[in-house]
Amino acid sequence: MKTASIAWALALAIGAGAAWGAGVGSPAKNYRLYCSGCHRADAAGNPGVGVPDMRNRIGDFVKVPEGRAFLVQVPGTSQSPLDDAETAALINWVLATYSARELPPGFAPYTAQEVAQLRAHPLVDVPGQRARVLQQLHEMGLNPG
Ligand code: HEC
Repeated sequence: MKTASIAWALALAIGAGAAWGAGVGSPAKNYRLYCSGCHRADAAGNPGVGVPDMRNRIGDFVKVPEGRAFLVQVPGTSQSPLDDAETAALINWVLATYSARELPPGFAPYTAQEVAQLRAHPLVDVPGQRARVLQQLHEMGLNPG
């Protein structure tokens, strides 16, 4: 029930996204076009070659600030041609679609402003930052990858 209401709140937030820029329309279409080539249609990724499985995992990342930032700072997200509003809607959609169960109660959806700020601070060491985030989550008893 709690998960369903979070997913519903996200759907509303996405629906309120108004005009789209470079993207082709909905977050689902943008995911297919810009992300699924590596992450696959079902977000299973290809862990054997370093593309993480996002299913029932990435919702845990937003439980620590560095993890929340990481989901946007990661190159696949931050360097897509989508604008900040489209990117916020896309990440919110990915979370609601593939990892709603892990989202904490009261999760605040990403906004265009937050995406803009994070894009202005690209990661120097992506694997190192991912390892630091996972370490923090492991210390909280979570194991998202
Ligand atoms: C060229 C392949 C590629 C594309 C395209 C791509 N990604 Fe990724 N993505 C990766 C890889 C590889 C990682 C692991 C971190 C790293 O090395 O960048 C990753 C990590 C992530 C993560 C963090 C998950 C974790 O467990 O570390 C998110 C969130 C993500 N990508 C979202 C997206 C979104 C949204 C798009 C589309 C706009 C996208 N990616 C496009 C390859 C890609």
